[in-house]
Amino acid sequence: MKSAPSPLKAKRASGIFIELEGGETLIDCISSWWVNVNGHCRQEIAQAIYQQSLELDHVLFAGFTHQPAQDLASGLIERLPQGIDKIFFSDNGSTAIEVAIKMALQFWRNIGDERKNLFLTFEGGYHGDTVGAMSVGGSSAFWNPYRQLMFETIIAPFPSTFEGDAEIDRKEEIALCKIKSLIDNHAGSIAAAIIEPLVQGAAGMKMCRPQFLLKLSNLVASANILTIYDEVMTGFGRTGEWFAASKAGTHPDIICLSKGIAGGFLPLAVTGCSNTVYEAFLSDDRRNTLYHGHSFTANPISCAAGVASLKLLRDASSAFRQMETWHRKWLYHELGSSKKVENIRFCGTISAFEVVSDSPSEYFNKMAPVLYHKFIQSGLLIRPLGNTIYIMPPYCISEEQLAGVYRRIGKVLRELD
Ligand SMILES: Cc1ncc(COP(=O)(O)O)c(C=O)c1O
Repeated sequence: MKSAPSPLKAKRASGIFIELEGGETLIDCISSWWVNVNGHCRQEIAQAIYQQSLELDHVLFAGFTHQPAQDLASGLIERLPQGIDKIFFSDNGSTAIEVAIKMALQFWRNIGDERKNLFLTFEGGYHGDTVGAMSVGGSSAFWNPYRQLMFETIIAPFPSTFEGDAEIDRKEEIALCKIKSLIDNHAGSIAAAIIEPLVQGAAGMKMCRPQFLLKLSNLVASANILTIYDEVMTGFGRTGEWFAASKAGTHPDIICLSKGIAGGFLPLAVTGCSNTVYEAFLSDDRRNTLYHGHSFTANPISCAAGVASLKLLRDASSAFRQMETWHRKWLYHELGSSKKVENIRFCGTISAFEVVSDSPSEYFNKMAPVLYHKFIQSGLLIRPLGNTIYIMPPYCISEEQLAGVYRRIGKVLRELD
């Protein structure tokens, strides 16, 4: 509170733009913390919310269901990678993770295996701010004050890469070897592995290759361990495909979705799972129930926004599929020759790079607030993660607008010291 600049007062938003009270306009280059996939204030979603509010605002989701939840669940199942058959609703990314953790642990209990208590997690992984989510994202420096509350996990290396990385084959081999030995050392006691597939967001847009994910999937499945994909950020087109799992040709047992699910209008989340996981909870014994429900679980208005957003996404699929080409073209055009830029990387609608720094590349790098301020002055909403700059715009951005974003970034970087 002491060191943060005063918050900017937003007045309205439209498409890729956010207008401030004083009349200045910012381009939302990070989709307002990665939630706004279709662009701000889309009429179609606003209308769906209005109509739904007149019909059914809310009803508890215990012993009840409703059309928007059913429509959203079936729309999701249609798009999700094969093997995700059931949908469990909640209301934000962190709770989708809590549900996944509980689901995985109880799955083994319900089928009579009491030994599986551990989670395999990844260095740099971030899964949200609640206690279970903090635990499976345990390597983050954010959590130091809360360590006493958190459970231990087994932390595996994440082989992140960038364009022209000559070491990547070796890094992946070392990571897989280490993961295999971690699994062997904890024989039979790992319930699930949890990963942000293809892109670790908060860690600094660290990207791994689809082939690593595929090998990891096979390794984990052969050791009788469940796979949880945290697609809270990567879902709904972010990686250039509907889901990172589909892009990598992998089939997680459990998947967590939120952020873009309701088009950035309202909070909503789901945890999807396979029939195999679901069936472990089908029982005459009520103690086998997955006891987890929030007051606003599957809120009808949020679900209606989700259904409308899914429709928009169907039309936007060529936009999210082609955005990587635009990123590559314009990032190299404007920044390719800059000595201040390193580790350039792309994954679908996301581009990232580091600004060369004499301090370690991490969240607390002192460049972040300086860059943030300069970008705002240039009309760009970009929140650097330390010295990592990333662009993750709504899919309605045009090529010309994206080119303009990189032009402005280039200008800011040239003006640095
Ligand atoms: C990969 C990932 N998982 C989970 C979360 C937590 O989501 P929420 O902020 O909605 O609780 C985030 C949020 O940034 C995230 O990036």
